[in-house]
Amino acid sequence: MRTIAIINQKGGVGKTTSAANLGACLAGKERKVLMIDIDPQANLSVHFGINIHDLERSIYHLMMGEADFAGVLCSTEIDGLELVPSEIALSGAEIQLVGMVGRETILKDAIADSLHRYDYVLVDCPPSLGLLTLNALAAVREIFIPLQTEFFALEGMSHLLNTVDLVKKRINRQLEITGIIPCMFDARTKLSQAVLDKIKQYFEDRVFNTAIHKNVRLAESPSYGKPITVYDPEAQGTKDYIALAEEVIAQEERLSAAQTNEQMEANDG
Ligand SMILES: Nc1ncnc2c1ncn2[C@@H]1O[C@H](COP(=O)(O)OP(=O)(O)O)[C@@H](O)[C@H]1O
Ligand SMILES: [Mg+2]
Repeated sequence: MRTIAIINQKGGVGKTTSAANLGACLAGKERKVLMIDIDPQANLSVHFGINIHDLERSIYHLMMGEADFAGVLCSTEIDGLELVPSEIALSGAEIQLVGMVGRETILKDAIADSLHRYDYVLVDCPPSLGLLTLNALAAVREIFIPLQTEFFALEGMSHLLNTVDLVKKRINRQLEITGIIPCMFDARTKLSQAVLDKIKQYFEDRVFNTAIHKNVRLAESPSYGKPITVYDPEAQGTKDYIALAEEVIAQEERLSAAQTNEQMEANDG
């Protein structure tokens, strides 16, 4: 089982689009997928056709101890893909969490007993490094960072990486950045390619080979409540996210070998 948070403290870089469509493509490859929306904007939930204004229970209730995992889980029209939805009320949680004991591990504790049913758990984070994102980082082993292939892509990156280091030291020793997703790539501009080269210099082999092209169909699909694979199976966006899912699946063997080594070393030491 892999648990992955999709983070970047900037908004509009492709977090939700990547979470939704990567999730759908992994489910399309026979993986059991749990999507967790921990952004109060609830874009991921809307992307899967959830009516967030009619929700009785959401991740907010799960984190406040007012509902259990089964009580907030939603099915979707994608086979093998389930979702813990969000709603605007979650924006209040950031403040309510401050006074709680173990405030960084509330999500982790709330989902711990239910994860064994899934091959992939993807957490779509808000555009900040606040308590909600920290809860996501405490609950996962891996981080994917979507980056827009535009001029300011790496701006703010040192702050993000420092935060990841701190979480690793203090809350979650196993946390690793295992994937950088280049998003909104525009093959017609030199700038896109130049920025992609910069991103590769910075993150080296952690950058996925698949760059997600700019594709208007990707921007349209959320308003129909469907991932791109359903909305337009022929779109460039569908091809890109399927290719990305194949790369993610190709990581499985390497990662499980690394984890086995880690365990053996831990047992030895
Ligand atoms: N590859 C792409 N091509 C075109 N539009 C995109 C692409 N990726 C994302 N978008 C659009 O850009 C906006 C921001 O993307 P989103 O995934 O919501 O970013 P974030 O979750 O990081 O805020 C959305 O309107 C989305 O539909
Ligand atoms: Mg988003």
